[in-house]
Amino acid sequence: MNPTENSKKSAGYAAAGYVQSGMVVGLGTGSTVKYALEMIAKRIKNEGLDILGIPTSEATAGLAMKLGIPLSTLDEHPVLDMAIDGADEVDPGFNLIKGGGGAHTREKIVATASKRFIVVVDKGKVVGKLGDFGIPIEVLPFGAGLVKRKIEGLGGTVKQRNNTSDNGNMLMDARMEIRNPAELEDLLNSIPGVIENGIFAHRRPEVVIVGDGAGVVVIEREDGK
Ligand code: A5P
Repeated sequence: MNPTENSKKSAGYAAAGYVQSGMVVGLGTGSTVKYALEMIAKRIKNEGLDILGIPTSEATAGLAMKLGIPLSTLDEHPVLDMAIDGADEVDPGFNLIKGGGGAHTREKIVATASKRFIVVVDKGKVVGKLGDFGIPIEVLPFGAGLVKRKIEGLGGTVKQRNNTSDNGNMLMDARMEIRNPAELEDLLNSIPGVIENGIFAHRRPEVVIVGDGAGVVVIEREDGK
């Protein structure tokens, strides 16, 4: 296993240790969180861990079912004990970029509905300033032209992805300087046609688990509950 994969695995496995019986747990999307799912499934089998998962994507729902993790819905459980998810970038203020896999809208809903938000990343995702990855944006196809023009008017560039989101919408990546993540998160979401963007500045994680080879570094947000 290459070093990055090892880091993802150790971060994902460590996050699974935070899960306790009786919890409703948001299950994020991506190649890091899949290791958390793997370990949660092992704990269900070996320890009788009793949880319900709320998946943030069709891919995660499929994987959880395959692994034997019982699932529920946000309608049935509007308040979650915890969400575990990956990220594409994490800055020193615990602001995130998410949506590399196009699942950020459901991920933001689930994270915001959760009492505790735990992010798992390999150390390559830890950055001094957000922005190099770009900003994933889910867009209603009807408004695509307007959204593109408005972002260009803000000094950004926009690239449309070839695939659509699980919600059937268009996915774009914007490139622009992120001076103030919370302000830009709000500004992008104020453009009619934008469904959600991948800046997580309002719902930041309380805990970030950074995989570094076979070990992890756990960083807790001081003002986080
Ligand atoms: C899914 O849309 C994303 O928000 C992922 O959580 C993020 O891209 C991290 O994925 P990886 O763990 O696969 O890098």
